[in-house]
Amino acid sequence: MAYISPALNVMIAAARKAGRPLIRDLGELENLQVSMKGPADFVTNADSRTERILIEELTKARPGYGFLGEEGGTIEGKDKTHRFIIDPIDGTTNFLHGIPHFAISVALEREGQIVSALVYNPATDDMFVAEKGHGAYLNNKRLRVAARKTLAHSLIATGFPFHGHAEDRFARMQAELAAIMPSTAGIRRNGAASLDLAYVAAGRFDAFWERGLAPWDVAAGILLVKEAQGMVSDLSGGTNMLDNGSILAANEALHPQLLKAIKGAKP
Ligand code: IPD
Ligand code: CA
Ligand code: CA
Repeated sequence: MAYISPALNVMIAAARKAGRPLIRDLGELENLQVSMKGPADFVTNADSRTERILIEELTKARPGYGFLGEEGGTIEGKDKTHRFIIDPIDGTTNFLHGIPHFAISVALEREGQIVSALVYNPATDDMFVAEKGHGAYLNNKRLRVAARKTLAHSLIATGFPFHGHAEDRFARMQAELAAIMPSTAGIRRNGAASLDLAYVAAGRFDAFWERGLAPWDVAAGILLVKEAQGMVSDLSGGTNMLDNGSILAANEALHPQLLKAIKGAKP
């Protein structure tokens, strides 16, 4: 059985409540694809509603804790030692296109350390949770990163840059792909960084790397991977993932191989 702290319990209840309307929205979005107006406003509303429900529920149970949310930014709490880091919908582009691969991501930070984490896909009802020092779980099943040691057998996730990103991001991505792709069993771009990390924790993906991410994309997923005995670093090999937005997650055998390949990839 998963050890669930009282705080994580509150996070789970909040995510389930905020996730319910998203399942309804997903059905509606399938219809909206063909309308002239398109689903953009609808998605913006779903994003802010989800974050509002999460903040309301979490504040009821933990008044005084602060927030860092993608939609609402920083909310200072009276309690300076705790804050929730929230992405209400990670994988917005999938959600907008009616693709059931997106997640609510919530992490609890205590004195600068992530201590509880949740990544929840309402469409599949996959609830990934982790508690610092107590392991990572998917729907009550203990998680462990995959054991594969060679890149040739490994399925690796990443995130490609897209419209609006700085010019140099594209060339760098191409160089990294050229360095890694030929050695692997396959590369995936599934479109939700929090789930990419959760899938590494679950051994579905062998590794994940990406640049240009925000703290709310990765805060929960990092703890999931660590608690599933995986290694997480930024792409310089350091531990500033939340500050510099670059990340590499894998098991102990693959992490150094991939870090070397990525560092050596020159655009
Ligand atoms: C995005 C997803 C995507 C990643 C982007 C993120 P959003 O988050 O995690 O996989 O490649 O960089 O911004 O916008 O869907 O919350
Ligand atoms: Ca995100
Ligand atoms: Ca988002």
